[in-house]
Amino acid sequence: MSPKLSDKKLTVLGAGKLGGILLRAYLKQGLFVSNRVIATVKHAERAAALAKELGIAVTTDNREAVKGADIVLLTIKPQTVAEVLQEIALEIGADTLVVCVAASVPAGFVEQQLAAATSGRRDEMPVVRAMPNTPAAVHCGMTAICGGTHASAHHLDIARTMFDAVGRTIVLDEKHMDAVTGLSASGPAFAYIILESLAEGGVKVGLPRDVATLLAAQTMKGAASVVLETGDHPALLKDAVTTPAGCTIDGILELEEGKLRVTLIKAVVKATSRAGELLFEK
Ligand SMILES: NC(=O)c1ccc[n+]([C@@H]2O[C@H](COP(=O)([O-])OP(=O)(O)OC[C@H]3O[C@@H](n4cnc5c(N)ncnc54)[C@H](OP(=O)(O)O)[C@@H]3O)[C@@H](O)[C@H]2O)c1
Repeated sequence: MSPKLSDKKLTVLGAGKLGGILLRAYLKQGLFVSNRVIATVKHAERAAALAKELGIAVTTDNREAVKGADIVLLTIKPQTVAEVLQEIALEIGADTLVVCVAASVPAGFVEQQLAAATSGRRDEMPVVRAMPNTPAAVHCGMTAICGGTHASAHHLDIARTMFDAVGRTIVLDEKHMDAVTGLSASGPAFAYIILESLAEGGVKVGLPRDVATLLAAQTMKGAASVVLETGDHPALLKDAVTTPAGCTIDGILELEEGKLRVTLIKAVVKATSRAGELLFEK
């Protein structure tokens, strides 16, 4: 059974695109209750606008915001994580669960920053690293999570509940997190390019653009749903669509000549290796 979170106090540090998506889902579903949720951003005018939109307290004061929090969700940029952790370390409770979604930031980095900033007083903090994606906005997200040194099964259950609220969640070994970033976190951008290109094909053969986009989007959604629901290998499913000497095989020949497969493989490899670098940039 999923842990009940509505009596927990949640602090979201850096409620930008991703933090906003998660907050909207939590409040809409009642996973967390608005008077127990506080968020922070960098700019005061954004804080005011977000507070008005979501009906929660939003501030620019990270230190104040984490006081008394049961869960602190870090949705700031990777380059800002060290600075914010040093800022909040003395205010955060020893039992507070820290969930960090920043790309390329290992759970161990979060643990070390909190321990170092408190001269070891916060050296056993439960940390869960998570890598969601933006389809979370329509409850179709894919999130991988992994626990840090002091995260228990219960902590992972809490994090899972927080990401199940916006789609699917998988628990993985931390060594896979950069690959997850390169595949499912960057992946929606790759998929939009494929979808847009299919729609352009439809326009080229005479379909109105809105019809072509609908056909392309529903086709990609349908194909993905078949893979998820049947568990069948995509190659088998592709074979089932490809009639000998039919039209599909002619299209596939073009894809192979255009090196679609190798291009997509290389896109994921590049995005994965870039995912390992972000933390170390200013
Ligand atoms: N977007 C994705 O697809 C995606 C997917 C998986 C993981 N992530 C991870 O999620 C994190 C956020 O990404 P995003 O796309 O949501 O970025 P974003 O929209 O730029 O959000 C970052 C937020 O952090 C706030 N901020 C900056 N400095 C701060 C500080 N010192 N204290 C408190 N808040 C601060 C910003 O405030 P202002 O609004 O006032 O500028 C902004 O609201 C990143 O670490 C990224 O790696 C993103």
